[in-house]
Amino acid sequence: MRKIVILTGAGISAESGLGTFRAEGGLWAQHRIEDVATPEGFARDPKLVMDFYNARRAQAAAAAPNAGHEALARLEAGFSGEVVVVTQNVDDLHEKAGSEQVMHMHGALKGALCGTCDHRWPAPAVMHPGDTCPVCQAPTARPDIVWFGEMPYDMEEIFGHLSEADLFVSIGTSGNVYPAAGFVAEAKRQGAVTLEFNLEPSEVGSHFDDIRLGPATQTLPAWVDEILAS
Ligand code: APR
Repeated sequence: MRKIVILTGAGISAESGLGTFRAEGGLWAQHRIEDVATPEGFARDPKLVMDFYNARRAQAAAAAPNAGHEALARLEAGFSGEVVVVTQNVDDLHEKAGSEQVMHMHGALKGALCGTCDHRWPAPAVMHPGDTCPVCQAPTARPDIVWFGEMPYDMEEIFGHLSEADLFVSIGTSGNVYPAAGFVAEAKRQGAVTLEFNLEPSEVGSHFDDIRLGPATQTLPAWVDEILAS
């Protein structure tokens, strides 16, 4: 086996204390997506949106990677082939655990983006409506997060990785949101073996050759031990 492509979702960060979206009391039970995760919501009430991401940025900054993140970093370091993590998460827990090949297809809380000139820079801990872009000075700074209705990042590169994957692994994602939810079907079409880690089968669970149920902090270390021993 030469290449493992891993998709992660909010479930891998749940045991680090970061809320998931669709569980009971999850983020989308506390806030309406259209208010805090769309360009229209940002235009309507930029302070509400900035405050939402300021809170999530502070929470993520204070969070520690868990045994699931650490297992993936150990896999990348010890595996003879290539390991690519494509994450829907906007926290930096994969990087904090030591993973290096990480692609943030939904952006990152640590990033800021200019709505005028597309410049990106490290986000301050707290952002305010009207913050200016350090390059073009326009008062249009926003969190570098991909909102609903916007195009996820690095899609061409991600589909390139999927076409080369020998093994596609999905961890802690409910399979509700495309294009990420479509990755398993694409990997399978390209000949990959497919494996899902979750507390329960996701919406796209039927596409997986194998599903391992349980908390990622337990299932991932055991799986990485298996892979590195084989
Ligand atoms: N271990 C493994 N899986 C877990 C754990 C855990 N400890 N805790 C929760 N899960 C699983 C849940 O069973 C669920 O399938 O993680 C998944 C979380 O699903 P969502 O809350 O829908 O999060 P996610 O799939 O990452 O959402 C995708 O939707 O709102 C957008 O942009 C946002 O990136 C997000 C995208």
